Amino acid sequence: YHVDWDISAAEKGGHDYFMLKEIAEQPKAVADTLLGRLTPQGRLRLDEMRLSHDELREIDKIVIIACGSAFYAGLTAKYAIEHWTRIPCEVELSSEFRYRDPILNRATLVIAISQSGETMDTLMALRHAREQRARVLAICNTNGSTIPRESDAVLYTHAGPEVGVAATKTFLTQVVACYLIGLYLAQVRESKFGDEVAAEVDQLDRMPAAVRAVLGTMADIRALARELATAKSVLFIGRHVGYPVALEGALKLKELAYMHAEAFAAGELKHGPIALIEEGLPVVVVVPPRGRDVLHDKIVSNVQEIRARGARTIVLAEEGDESVVPWADTLIRLPRVPTLLQPLVATVPLQIFACELAMARGNDVDQPRNLAKSVTVE
Ligand code: G6P
Repeated sequence: YHVDWDISAAEKGGHDYFMLKEIAEQPKAVADTLLGRLTPQGRLRLDEMRLSHDELREIDKIVIIACGSAFYAGLTAKYAIEHWTRIPCEVELSSEFRYRDPILNRATLVIAISQSGETMDTLMALRHAREQRARVLAICNTNGSTIPRESDAVLYTHAGPEVGVAATKTFLTQVVACYLIGLYLAQVRESKFGDEVAAEVDQLDRMPAAVRAVLGTMADIRALARELATAKSVLFIGRHVGYPVALEGALKLKELAYMHAEAFAAGELKHGPIALIEEGLPVVVVVPPRGRDVLHDKIVSNVQEIRARGARTIVLAEEGDESVVPWADTLIRLPRVPTLLQPLVATVPLQIFACELAMARGNDVDQPRNLAKSVTVE
């Protein structure tokens, strides 16, 4: 009697690729990153921050440094951190920051985001920051790696090991970790939004369920991806936190499908990118939630404009948003969540889109050509 037993298939938990498993694990990854950090009273406990409340009150600038998807997690976080804390927050690619002469001092909090904790450019950027006496807080997924060891403090994402080269569950948990830092600063500094911390924490607590819900409705985006397998190029547009989501969606497509993909802030369309629109060009649009958000209507106009010029529109919009229905060639529904949290659900269909499209093109999505999981050289 002989059983075919493949260790790698077992590790993939029944999925064809680690990446598919890791996408499916996202509700748990988000829940684990929140675990133990939220009190039943709606307060945050981040003992790992290792800075006294006085030190946290002294911070007058935040600089986030990162590469790749971690950089897009940082771009997303900027919107939330500035809104909650009123502390100016810059986000910069590690490779640019390290060779620049940035203005930093003791009151600057530098947040270095890195899944592996070994990315050379981010490590060098953090050394550069420490030389100027800035305090460095790492957000990392790998215990005991170099970046956390060289930082003043570390907040670990608890995404578990990520084998697929392209970041998925670590991207979502990096956003969550940044949000926890933003809310914690608001709480400690008793900022104007200090009172909203409990409500925001409650919303964060609902995100694992929201991510699970979006994972359950991916049949349409999969079918679309297979249909677009021979497309030459895909554009992505979004604004506010939907802009970094668009950037992350385009990056996934480049990494996995080896396809030209580019993201734009929707407000910039008229300043150039709209000239690219031609008959049949697929354009993915991340539509913000409705309600008091004025940006919602602006994006709906953008969808009309690009469709009038022949774009094939792939629209991500929250459940119940009927305004986009006439202009969407494909409509992907997202659970209703607050604007700042929408990236946690909106990124998921874009990961699946890129993964499915790459598989349809015959690519190995776990090991894309020319890429490494951890870039330890310049
Ligand atoms: C590589 C990976 C990306 C990752 C980036 C940053 O390019 O392919 O998925 O986002 O490195 O890696 P880090 O480990 O610093 O988050």
